[in-house]
Amino acid sequence: MNEIQNASGGSMQIRDAAEADFDQITAIYNEVLTNSTAVYNDRPTTTSDRIAWWKDRLEQVYPVLVATDRSRVVGFAAFGNYRSWAGYRFTVECTVHIHSGRRGQGVGTALLSALIARAKTLGKHTMIAGVDSENIASLRFFERCGFERAGYLREVGYKFGRYLDLVFLQYWITPHAGEAR
Ligand SMILES: CC(C)(COP(=O)(O)OP(=O)(O)OC[C@H]1O[C@@H](n2cnc3c(N)ncnc32)[C@H](O)[C@@H]1OP(=O)(O)O)[C@@H](O)C(=O)NCCC(=O)NCCS
Repeated sequence: MNEIQNASGGSMQIRDAAEADFDQITAIYNEVLTNSTAVYNDRPTTTSDRIAWWKDRLEQVYPVLVATDRSRVVGFAAFGNYRSWAGYRFTVECTVHIHSGRRGQGVGTALLSALIARAKTLGKHTMIAGVDSENIASLRFFERCGFERAGYLREVGYKFGRYLDLVFLQYWITPHAGEAR
């Protein structure tokens, strides 16, 4: 577990999620899903669906991390396989969502940095983020965390009655070919 001082002097913890966190994780996820194009899905999920998703991640030995402040969950982060075929096994795709009242306070950065450390421990080579092209806060967030833009797919998403463009960003967990080692 990591303990981090936040901007207001309080302490935030980053740890593996536990089953009791999933009502709060589900509420954070559903708020993002309902109010933004950050997730290309418009059907709110349930706590039991999210627990099933978590158990699936655990079976793959992949972490689901939460940030907590005074034992309230203020954000969560996870990764899954980028694609299911064996040749993609060193590549993961991440997800990070912060409670609407706690954005812009460094929680996402702390979670993503802990998530990258876990991916490194698992021997992963690179991490992908797929971000809606209009989600400026998220694009800046990933770039600020060291991700670089790697691709742009037009109109692959559909939500709120219109097509949406997806930006792929990529982070090198271990050096890539051609990079100084
Ligand atoms: C995107 C998100 C994960 C970022 O987490 P966060 O805790 O708010 O971000 P941080 O406070 O760690 O900020 C890190 C950097 O992100 C950028 N950023 C964060 N919020 C921003 C905003 N509202 N507008 C522009 N840039 C923003 C800034 O560059 C910031 O660094 P700086 O303050 O030094 O300039 C969070 O805002 C969130 O959950 N948003 C809604 C859901 C979502 O979009 N998830 C990502 C799906 S791909």
